[in-house]
This record gives sequence, C-alpha cells and structure tokens, in this order.
Amino acid sequence: MSSGTIKPQTFWAWTVLRVGVLASGRGSNLEALLQWQSSGALGGAEVVLVVCNRAGAGALEVAASHNVEAVLCEQKRPQTRAEAQMQVSALLEERAVQLVVLAGYDRILAPAFVRRWAGRCINVHPSLLPAFGGSLHAQRDALEYGVKVTGCTVHFVTEDVDRGPIISQAVVSVLPEDDEQSLSARILVQEHTLLPAAVRAYAQGRLSVENRRVVYG
Ligand code: GRF
Repeated sequence: MSSGTIKPQTFWAWTVLRVGVLASGRGSNLEALLQWQSSGALGGAEVVLVVCNRAGAGALEVAASHNVEAVLCEQKRPQTRAEAQMQVSALLEERAVQLVVLAGYDRILAPAFVRRWAGRCINVHPSLLPAFGGSLHAQRDALEYGVKVTGCTVHFVTEDVDRGPIISQAVVSVLPEDDEQSLSARILVQEHTLLPAAVRAYAQGRLSVENRRVVYG
C-alpha cells in the first residue's frame, strides 16, 4: 500500500461521531438510538457511553443489553448539582464524546455544563416547543390545556431550558379519548424516529445554526 493511501478502517475511525447519552428512566429513546446504530442507520454516530443518574433505571439495562458502557452518576450530598454534572462532563470528555444526547434526563443542566457542551448537546422533549417547555409532564399539560395537536421536539440545549434552536419536530393529534398514557405512547413512537434522525443529521455535519434557526445542509 502506498504511503498516501487511507485504509478504510482508519478513515472510518476518523469519521465516527462519539455520542454520550444521559438518561434517567426507562430508556426507550436510548433503545431506539442503539437499534438504529445496530442496523447502520445512525450514520457515522456511535453511542460510546451512557450516563444515568438513577439507580435501577431501565436505561442501564438497555445499555448493558447492547454492550455499551454505562455509568451510574448520582448526585451525592453535599455535592451540588453543578459539581455532580461537571463530574459527568469530565467523564464524557475522558471518553472523547463529541455529542451529548439527553434521552429522558430528568435534571436541569447547570449553566457550566451547558456552556462546556454548547452546540454539542441535544435534547428530546415530548411537546411542540415552545409550548409546554420546562415541564416533566408536558403530555399531561397538553391534555389539560386542550390543544388539538401536540408532538415532540429535538433541540439544541441552551441555558434557557427547552428554548434552544429547534432541530426537528413531529406532530401528534390529540384524540378525544386520549389520556396521559395513550397520548404519551403515541408521542414516544415519534420520538423514536425523530431523535436518531437528528443524531444522524448531526453526525453527517448537516446541521448549522443561523441566529436561532437550524439549517440543514
Ligand atoms: C421521553 O418522553 C422524552 O421526551 C422525555 O423523557 C421521556 C424519556 O423516555 N424527555 P425514555 O426513558 O427514553 O423511554
């Protein structure tokens, strides 16, 4: 092989986008990401680390079932939220993570964490933002408000909670017979496509932000 030739596996190593996922709960969005990854649909992205802040969370089992490293990082008093999250940040950096995905992470991120990962951290939220932002039960809020459509949003994370530039959204109709469970389940189906597709677009270098608008290249 001549000295100027790039071996395919070397090229592949350069192009893989190392993803770290932060999760707190059941982990169905993590499962969707890992299924896309297994089938080769996640583009050049690879989940290399899962960080979970709740012992016993389903996300830990999901990671284990896909042989992905998972670390439990609980906030231990007297540690502050910011201190705990900067520990998580250091771990992500140790693993050379390039994109952080919040997949059901139930803590608001400390400003220092958000600044460190600015433009490299995305979140999935179960409503059409900016409606019902900043809520841990956005589906219930949508039902109580009486909206006829809701959905989910993938967005860049900024210090302004759930107000970062929007990458993608999917609309879900609210049916007359819906309760919180049925509506959440239909929204979740959409999340499971929206989030991996956003990660793929990011990995492919297709996303840029102009003012606060995300533009696809
Ligand atoms: C999802 O509805 C997501 O939008 C919200 O938290 C939930 C996480 O679900 N942020 P799962 O743990 O991925 O199943």
